[in-house]
Amino acid sequence: MKDLKVCIMGFGAVGQGLAKVILLKKENLKELYGVNLKIVSVADSSSSVICSDGLDENELIRIKKETGKLKNYPEYGSDISGLDVLDACDYDVLLEAVPTNIDDAEPAKSLTLKAFKQGKDVVTSNKGHLALFYDELLGAAKENKVLFKFEASVGGTMPIINLAQETLPANKVTSIVGILNGTTNYILSRMTSEGTNYENTLKESQHLGIAETDPTQDVEGIDAACKTVILANSVLGIPAKYDDVKVEGISNITSEAIEIAGQEGYLIKLIAEVSEDHLEVSPRLVKKGSAFDINGTLNMATVTTDLSGEVTVRGIGAGSVETAAAMLTDLIHVIREKYYVDD
Ligand code: HSE
Repeated sequence: MKDLKVCIMGFGAVGQGLAKVILLKKENLKELYGVNLKIVSVADSSSSVICSDGLDENELIRIKKETGKLKNYPEYGSDISGLDVLDACDYDVLLEAVPTNIDDAEPAKSLTLKAFKQGKDVVTSNKGHLALFYDELLGAAKENKVLFKFEASVGGTMPIINLAQETLPANKVTSIVGILNGTTNYILSRMTSEGTNYENTLKESQHLGIAETDPTQDVEGIDAACKTVILANSVLGIPAKYDDVKVEGISNITSEAIEIAGQEGYLIKLIAEVSEDHLEVSPRLVKKGSAFDINGTLNMATVTTDLSGEVTVRGIGAGSVETAAAMLTDLIHVIREKYYVDD
């Protein structure tokens, strides 16, 4: 049985979700692919825990929840952090889930480039580095002959990048139109069903832990714009940059506008559009009962193709275990490609 050693960078909601899904699925991976998946290192923003024999998934989550710092993990906790963790452990695949940074993409960009230089495959849920440096990152992965997988960066657990690249490769994708942000969809859905105003609905969403304390990236359309750039590059082959996307968020949407739209049979949704001549995130009217009529934190996307017409997908757009599940799917692609020998 071959060991597959993973390093998890970032131990917030998604990182902890990874520990959970690895615990749940590692026996399956042994049976299906003959690999023994081991978490050999985990780092948060200021400390880490490193053990080449593998770490206990439940203990990692307990230590983080109860003490806030991974360095408190018995025996193997450490003050080593950031890029140094990648030198301090022997790993095969980096699972990178640090917070998205749309200003300079750090630390995700440096961590990823360092892992590539070390000859390691990388699976990420991050958006900032892909939205700002797509070509540079993909070029570096190619140069170092490693795999770089990022299904989890768009739409949480909703399949979209792998769907287009691996399930529909006979097709040319001509456009993708969809709802790519769960937080804003939740807010707009609540404003619609309850007739509440934007400010109060946002506050309530924050209280429920759905919207972030600083909701700017979601409500101003920045998060959806990053995803638009990632889809443009990875699915449509358009060398788009973040600044190419026309972005408008939902903070100016009033309950009156939603009500008037409703009387005419329409909903207001934050729609992302990706096509050769159109990169836009903005609130738009969509027909009630159409594929865009989804509630809560769901995401959806209609992929228009040359041969297969329209293919529409939807799924949970955020969440700890759901996003981690998309990362585990990418890790399984890495396993199938590099570690699995069917004899
Ligand atoms: N904050 C995002 C959303 C999830 O609300 O959809 C991460 O991409």
